[in-house]
Amino acid sequence: MLIESSPTGLTVHTPAKVNLFLNVIGKRPDGYHDLETVMLAVGLFDTLTFEILDRRDIELSCDLSALSDSPTTDAPVLSSGDDNLVVKAARLIQSEANVSAGARIGLLKRIPMQAGLGGGSSDAAATLVALNRLWNAGLSTQRLHELAARLGSDVNFFLDSPDLAICRGRGERIEARPLTQPMWLVLVKPAGGLSTRDVFQEWARTGTTSPLDCDRVIDAINDSDSSGLPHVLWNSLEAPARQLSPEIQATLGRLRACHRGGLLMSGSGPCCFAVCGSREEAETLAGRLSGTGMVAVVEGGGLAGGRRSC
Ligand code: C5P
Repeated sequence: MLIESSPTGLTVHTPAKVNLFLNVIGKRPDGYHDLETVMLAVGLFDTLTFEILDRRDIELSCDLSALSDSPTTDAPVLSSGDDNLVVKAARLIQSEANVSAGARIGLLKRIPMQAGLGGGSSDAAATLVALNRLWNAGLSTQRLHELAARLGSDVNFFLDSPDLAICRGRGERIEARPLTQPMWLVLVKPAGGLSTRDVFQEWARTGTTSPLDCDRVIDAINDSDSSGLPHVLWNSLEAPARQLSPEIQATLGRLRACHRGGLLMSGSGPCCFAVCGSREEAETLAGRLSGTGMVAVVEGGGLAGGRRSC
């Protein structure tokens, strides 16, 4: 994530992710599922602004005008109340660090919601980092990670903000890995969203597990000969999500008709992506797909050390 000081507080640009590999290992006694996943941060950002309030209120306003879903579907909706993960993150810091101030938070959404791109988790991580700083709450990185894991399984990845990582457990145990070459992807989000919980429940009925391990996937990602990558892309949740949303099948079919490289659904879906060899290849593919829901060309990685401009 990129953090800038503003005249009134802080502005944070926080990225989306895709899962280049997501293996569900099995169901746990606590109802969650053990995973092994390779997550790649991608250059599609939500922007949050934070100002201190001298009363304990958390005021959130959401701007969804940049989300371009199909004109034939309903406009996206996001609560700005206590059920929003940003508000939950702010309240968690307030109570854990006994903060007497509040915050006015603006959230400009560019990352489609309920898409498998981690947008809500990314916003929550940005909130933890920004308010810990703005309120001088003094929570350590380890403490922020404990709070992140309470908020959701993907929040820890965005808190660390690596370009590439292997995530295990529920998804909250992060091992950053270097990304040694540029990656370009085309994201295609079919209309509508999917509930992560519903997709995991469907996996329990019909799902499968890959024999591959994450290190093999990282090697293929960083191999200068990229021909092996399409063969290691894997998502245990893709088949269950396709059962719940025929649109995913149709989107992957449209992608396959004009792309020979790797294709996969991200996270619990329904957003799908194509891995391309260059920016030019990605832009050409995106041009051929326009008119099929949200289509975006994004660079993978490039975020570590704040090198990326938004
Ligand atoms: O952790 P998060 O709130 O993002 O998860 C949403 C839902 O997805 C959980 O309530 C659970 O049903 C399911 N889930 C799971 N195993 C995981 C992550 C999520 O079963 N590792």
